[in-house]
Amino acid sequence: MDIPYLLEETRQLLAQESRKSILLAEEAALLIEQLRDNIKQHNQLYYLSDAPLISDAEYDRLFGLLKELEQRFPDLITPDSPTQKLAVVIQDVLKPAQHLTSMLSLDNTYNADDLYDFEKRIRNLVKRDVEIEYVVELKFDGMGICLLYENGLLVRAATRGDGTTGEDVTLNVKTIPSIPHRLKEQMLAKQRIEIRGEIVMPKSSFQKLNRQREEDGKPLFANPRNAAAGSVRQLDTSVTASRDLTGFMYHLSYIERPQDAPATHWEVLQAFQQMGLPVSEHRKLCLSMEEVVAHVHAIEAQRDEFPFEIDGMVIKVNDLQLQQEIGSTAHHPRWAVAYKFAARQETTLLQGISFQVGRTGVVTPIAELLPVNIGGVVVKRASLYNADYLVQNDFRVTDTVLVERAGDVIPRVVRFLPEKRNPEAEVFSFPSRCPSCHSQLVHLDEEVAWRCVNISCPAQRLERLIHFAAKDSMDIEGLGERIIEILLQENLINSLADIYRLHESERRDKLMSLPGFGTKSVENLLTAIQNSKKNPLWRLLHGLGILHVGKKTAKNLVADPRIKTLYDIFTLSPEALQEIPDIGPVLAQSIHDYFTPENQALFAELEALGLSLYNETAALTSSAELPLRGKTFVFTGELDRMSRDEASELVERLGGKAVSSVSKQTGYLVAGTAPGSKYQKAVLLGVTVLNEEEFLKLVNENGEGRTELGEEAGDRLTAHN
Ligand code: IVH
Repeated sequence: MDIPYLLEETRQLLAQESRKSILLAEEAALLIEQLRDNIKQHNQLYYLSDAPLISDAEYDRLFGLLKELEQRFPDLITPDSPTQKLAVVIQDVLKPAQHLTSMLSLDNTYNADDLYDFEKRIRNLVKRDVEIEYVVELKFDGMGICLLYENGLLVRAATRGDGTTGEDVTLNVKTIPSIPHRLKEQMLAKQRIEIRGEIVMPKSSFQKLNRQREEDGKPLFANPRNAAAGSVRQLDTSVTASRDLTGFMYHLSYIERPQDAPATHWEVLQAFQQMGLPVSEHRKLCLSMEEVVAHVHAIEAQRDEFPFEIDGMVIKVNDLQLQQEIGSTAHHPRWAVAYKFAARQETTLLQGISFQVGRTGVVTPIAELLPVNIGGVVVKRASLYNADYLVQNDFRVTDTVLVERAGDVIPRVVRFLPEKRNPEAEVFSFPSRCPSCHSQLVHLDEEVAWRCVNISCPAQRLERLIHFAAKDSMDIEGLGERIIEILLQENLINSLADIYRLHESERRDKLMSLPGFGTKSVENLLTAIQNSKKNPLWRLLHGLGILHVGKKTAKNLVADPRIKTLYDIFTLSPEALQEIPDIGPVLAQSIHDYFTPENQALFAELEALGLSLYNETAALTSSAELPLRGKTFVFTGELDRMSRDEASELVERLGGKAVSSVSKQTGYLVAGTAPGSKYQKAVLLGVTVLNEEEFLKLVNENGEGRTELGEEAGDRLTAHN
C-alpha cells in the first residue's frame, strides 16, 4: 500500500467537506467512490495491520462525510459501502499468544464458614494487626479474556488457554462494542498494561441465538458461557460481530511502571472506568468479613435478576501492597477467593424421551424427568437438543441423569451417571418418522436437526398458527396457544386464513357454544382478529413463518422501496434480495423458495378475506402517486404560518424532499422574511422562487383530496390559517 499517497488522498477528501452541500450528482458519485476506497484501506490498516495512519477523529470525519453524501444521494448507496457493512476479516488460524503474567484461577468457597477461614488464612500470612478491606464483585460466568494495551491502544486480546499461552483473538474482540480500541487519557493508559476480564453474552441474547440456531438446524450452545466462547473463538470476525457480547474488566495483571499503579483494587476499577473500560457497577467495598458474608447472601438471592449469568462472587483484598505480601500459589492468588453459589444441578431419573415438532418441522428430543427441585424450581422436562446430542451422550431411558438449570435458560440434561446405569437399559434410537404426522423425517445437508417436511403436519400447523397470532407477528390478543388448540380440535380453523373466517355466523355460533367462551370473550377475540387486518405488512410477513425470516428481516424487507405489495418480495430474485441489509444467500433463497403455488393461494385467500398485502411504508416513501414526488425544496428566511421544520415535514409527507442547500437540481426555493444567501444563489441558478403564500397554494392544490396524506396536510394548513 502506498502510504504517503493514501494520507494525501485522505487530506484531499476531507477538504471536500465544505463543498458537500453543493455537489452535483456526478461529482458526488466520484467522491463517494473515493471515500469508500479510502475508508476500506484505513479499516485494513486499523483492523488487520494494527497500524492506523489517521486519528479516530479523522476517520470519523471521513465516515461522516460518506454517510452524509449517501443520505443526500440515496440512489448511490451500494451494499458493499462501508456504511452498510461491517469490515469483515477472515483469519486462517488463531495464533498463540503468550500472557505477560500467568492467568491464575481462583480458590473456591461455598459458605460463610469457608469465607471466615479465608480471612483467617490471610491474617496468619500478614501477621500484623491491620484492618483488611475487601472488594466484592460478581463472578461472571463467561469467557476469561486478557487485554494488552500499549500507550492506550489495544494491541492484543487473548483467551486464557492453559494460563500461560492463550489464543490471539484480537480482531474478534475489537468487534465487541464495549471494548475500547483506545483508552481515554489516564496515567495507566500511558504505558504497557495487561488487563483481565470476562466476555459475556446476555441471557436473553443467548436464548435468541439458540432459537435461531434451532430453526437453522445448527447445533445449540449449551449455555451463555459456551456461546460467548464460541463467538469469540472464531476465524471469521463477522461472526463475532453479529453476536451480542459485552465485557467486564476486573483485574490489572501487569503494569510497566508499577509506581503509577493506584494503591487499591477499588481505585484500579475506578481507573478502568475512567479509561473507558467496561466495569460492572455491582461492586462493593466491605470493611469486614461479616459485611462480605451479608452482601454475598443478598446477591445470591437476586442471582436470577441479572441480565447475564453469574455463578458466584469474587472477594479480593483491596490493598494492592497487602495483596503482594499475601502472594499466590501456582494455581491461585491467596488474596482472592471465589464464593460459589449453590449448584443448580441435581440428579434424577430419565423416565422417558418425547419429541416436540417445531413450526419449521425441526424435531427436538425432550427428556421426561422424575420431577426434581433444582434451586427452588421443580423441573419435569429438559431439553436434549438434537439427535447428535442424544447419541453422543448415550442417554437411555431409566438412566439417572445430571440436570442443570442456569438462570432462566431451559434446563438441560448434562450427562448420565454410569455407576447407576441399569445394564439392561436399551440404546435409544431417534425416530425415523414424525411423532405427529408419521411422515419420514429428513436430515438436511449440514444440519444436525431432523425435520418433518410435511407441510400439513398437525404439530407444525399448531406451531405456525401460534407464531402467526403472536405478539411479534399479527399480535392478535386472546389468540394464544390454548385457544388455538381448541379451535383446531373443534375444526373451527385449519389454516392461517381460517382465522379470518371465524366471524362467519356458523363458526361464530359454534365458538360461542364452547365451554369457557362467553359472548364478550368471543366478541373481543373477533375484534382483535378484525383489527389485525390493518397491521403493517411486516407483521404479516413475519407471521407467515418463512424459514430464517425474523422480525428484523421482515422490517428490512418492507423498508425497501421496491416492495410495494407482499408479492413484490417474492418476485425479486435471490440476488436482488441480497441488496437488502442483513440478507445473505441462504435467507434470500429461503424467501424465494417460499413462493410455492400453495402459498400463493394463501396470499390470495388472505387478500380476499380483507387483509391488506399493500406496503404502507413504500406508499409513504416512494409512491409515484404522491404529488410532490421528485421535487426538492429549500427553505430560507422565516415563515409566518409554520416553522421551517414543519414545512419540510409537509413537503416530505407529500413525497417531496426538503434539502438544506440550493443547487441546479433544486425544484423550489421558498423564501420567508429576511432570506439568506440561498435566495441569491437560487436566483443565479434560475431556481423557481416562491413566497410563503405561493408555497401554501402549491401544497394545497396538490395535497387536497389527492391522497390521505394530502388531506392531512390540508387539515394542518387550515389549522394554521
Ligand atoms: S479475578 C488473579 N474476578 O472466574 C485474579 N475472576 O474461577 C484473577 N471470573 O479465571 C481472577 N468473574 O475467568 C476475577 N470478578 C471476577 C471474576 C473472575 C469471573 C472468572 C475468571 C477466573 C475464574 C476462576
